[in-house]
Amino acid sequence: MNVLVTGHLGYIGVEMVSVFRAAGFEVVGLDTGLFDECDFVSPPDDIETLSIDLRDVKPTDLAGFDAVAHLGALSNDPLGNLNSSLTYDINLHASVRLAEAAKAAGVGRFLFSSSCSLYGAGGHGFLDEESAFNPVTAYGESKVRVEQAVSKLADGSFTPVYLRNATAYGVSRRLRADIVVNSLVGHAVTTGKVLLQSDGTPWRPLVHIRDIIAAFQACLTAPVEAIWDQAFNVGKDNSENYRIREVAEMVRDVVPNCELAFAPGASGDTRDYRVDFTKIATKLPGFHAEWTLRRGIEELYEAYSSAGLTEEDWKGPRYYRLPTVRGLQERGLIDQNLRRTTPGP
Ligand SMILES: NC(=O)c1ccc[n+]([C@@H]2O[C@H](COP(=O)([O-])OP(=O)(O)OC[C@H]3O[C@@H](n4cnc5c(N)ncnc54)[C@H](O)[C@@H]3O)[C@@H](O)[C@H]2O)c1
Repeated sequence: MNVLVTGHLGYIGVEMVSVFRAAGFEVVGLDTGLFDECDFVSPPDDIETLSIDLRDVKPTDLAGFDAVAHLGALSNDPLGNLNSSLTYDINLHASVRLAEAAKAAGVGRFLFSSSCSLYGAGGHGFLDEESAFNPVTAYGESKVRVEQAVSKLADGSFTPVYLRNATAYGVSRRLRADIVVNSLVGHAVTTGKVLLQSDGTPWRPLVHIRDIIAAFQACLTAPVEAIWDQAFNVGKDNSENYRIREVAEMVRDVVPNCELAFAPGASGDTRDYRVDFTKIATKLPGFHAEWTLRRGIEELYEAYSSAGLTEEDWKGPRYYRLPTVRGLQERGLIDQNLRRTTPGP
């Protein structure tokens, strides 16, 4: 099976490529390499890459693929807030055009990396796939609108699937420090403090990147009728929803000699929701999630410690998406629209 992974040089993508190749899939990537200077410990697999901006993809670029796993995006709220029209151009319009191009090229499966953030400020019950959308950012809104537009393309030969990932954590060769678990462990390892940016009460659904990758892999091989035009919340089980304070306490228990601390001005957080993961556990053939938060924190602690991560490394731009992008702009390597001014990877 030939699979195109967009965003394959990002946090989730680099590890997805390795897992898919080990499972015997032929994998090609598509990415403009915004984070090519951001390796953690070792570089990504060296695979065939289409250095095409998502906004420029044509059906001919997609000929011959059986499936597209679409991860490429401005991947968080701060990046999305950089310029909300760019979030709509890249995350929404380019994603919908990519799906249309995939369908026109005869690609059978289109796996969209959506997000639980489309539930936004969700109240206090468990949100399942039928729950109302309530996005609070341009990023979350873009995920809703892609799902709605791509759903209209579903037919007898085109199977879109919407994988609504919880907030990810875990070790990757393109590590991100701007997501909560990775951040709390990094701060603890490098400073001895588990630094809470909010009052710690908000709920958050969490998932290891390898369980996200397992969900995508299951969608490559599942019978079409099990996944056709379906949304799945991606996470292990309902106990993997945590209050941020519980996460911080677990980090404190795993990382030796550290204590809880509150960042100046720490307050409430509008992102406060719990997600129900029953559907993916019971309805997605071949999917088995394996990671608990505790094991993920232990993995991060081991990886950061053995890499000798310092406070200076940790606070620099390398592992943060927004400062990295700003740095590329300041050096003239990408323009204000995040288009490369030099050849990509
Ligand atoms: N990490 C999470 O917690 C999480 C949670 C839910 C959903 N997601 C979704 O999963 C996907 C991957 O997330 P990630 O954490 O790996 O993000 P990431 O920022 O690490 O990677 C995104 C990749 O997309 C590429 N890209 C961005 N704009 C592009 C363009 N115009 N053309 C070509 N390539 C472009 C970047 O170079 C980068 O390699 C995203 O769609 C994100 O919204 C992530």
